[in-house]
Amino acid sequence: MATKIGALKLNNPVILASGIMDEDSGSMKRIYNNGAGAIVTKSIGLKTREGYPNPTFVDLDCGILNAMGLPNPGIENFKDEIVEIKKDKIPVIGSIFGSNSKEFLILAKKMQEFGADAIELNMSCPHAKGYGLELGSDPKIVEDITLKVKKEIKIPVFVKISPNLMNISEIAKAAEDGKADAIVAINTVKAMKIDIDLKRPVLANKIGGYSGKAIKPIGVRCVYDIAQNVKIPIIGVGGITSGEDAIEYIMAGATALQVGTGLYNRGINIFGKINKEIIDWMKKNKIEKITDLIGVANIWIIQKLSKSKK
Ligand SMILES: Cc1cc2nc3c(=O)[nH]c(=O)nc-3n(C[C@H](O)[C@H](O)[C@H](O)COP(=O)(O)O)c2cc1C
Repeated sequence: MATKIGALKLNNPVILASGIMDEDSGSMKRIYNNGAGAIVTKSIGLKTREGYPNPTFVDLDCGILNAMGLPNPGIENFKDEIVEIKKDKIPVIGSIFGSNSKEFLILAKKMQEFGADAIELNMSCPHAKGYGLELGSDPKIVEDITLKVKKEIKIPVFVKISPNLMNISEIAKAAEDGKADAIVAINTVKAMKIDIDLKRPVLANKIGGYSGKAIKPIGVRCVYDIAQNVKIPIIGVGGITSGEDAIEYIMAGATALQVGTGLYNRGINIFGKINKEIIDWMKKNKIEKITDLIGVANIWIIQKLSKSKK
């Protein structure tokens, strides 16, 4: 199950997604010790940020709706958490958000200095004004930020993109043109819940991001589309709660996976469970290497491979 994402080598491909139990070293260690291949940190910005007032989180059928507003301690206050988990040699991907390339570069340099093994540029938060999707929907901005970070950072750089776009493949290509080492897809899906008794949206921010089982088909479609447009690895995320879900993403074109909301469904040891389910499925279907499954359901990739063999 060993996996390579660019230069990043992991024991297994099932990674903790940004934003779930990843703000302190204690919970990140627990998750790694329960079978995760790596940990992505909560997205960290330049300064301490409180996030939105409550309610920020609502449990819905088949998923979770949240608008936390990117609460985080700020990069300087996050140093100790990274240093602490690196003492145990845990692979850690530092997620960062900024409002321009200068901010992204400062944050990426700090994460690298603290010991992160890779950087994830969050350009896809669906509800943070001035950040996220507002940058990540413009291919020129995505390419520019990625290029500027890549130019000065030695560790691999991933770009996390949003499903809330008509031009998702174009955005992924822009990240590849900016020399990104991998694409992470998808962030949450823009959504809303209304309380019909109060006649008001439930979230204080009104609009939030939907995650969990319900968004898996959206994520799989996004990975499938992106795989047709880029050559760099794709990390699939969105609604994965089982080994079969993970295999679907891999067959669409993903090299590795991230799991977030699934922790609420199957507990902290979901990572070990998913890894075991992938291995069991591979044994049953006589598949030796997980890499043999990447993109096998993707018609375009199959056509490209068969042409190159001729
Ligand atoms: C409570 C919560 C907080 C999140 N915070 C972040 C974040 O800080 N940065 C980020 O890139 N994604 C964030 N996400 C999105 C997840 O990393 C992931 O892309 C999304 O939830 C889809 O995966 P899932 O269905 O496995 O949860 C958050 C998701 C949830 C549910």
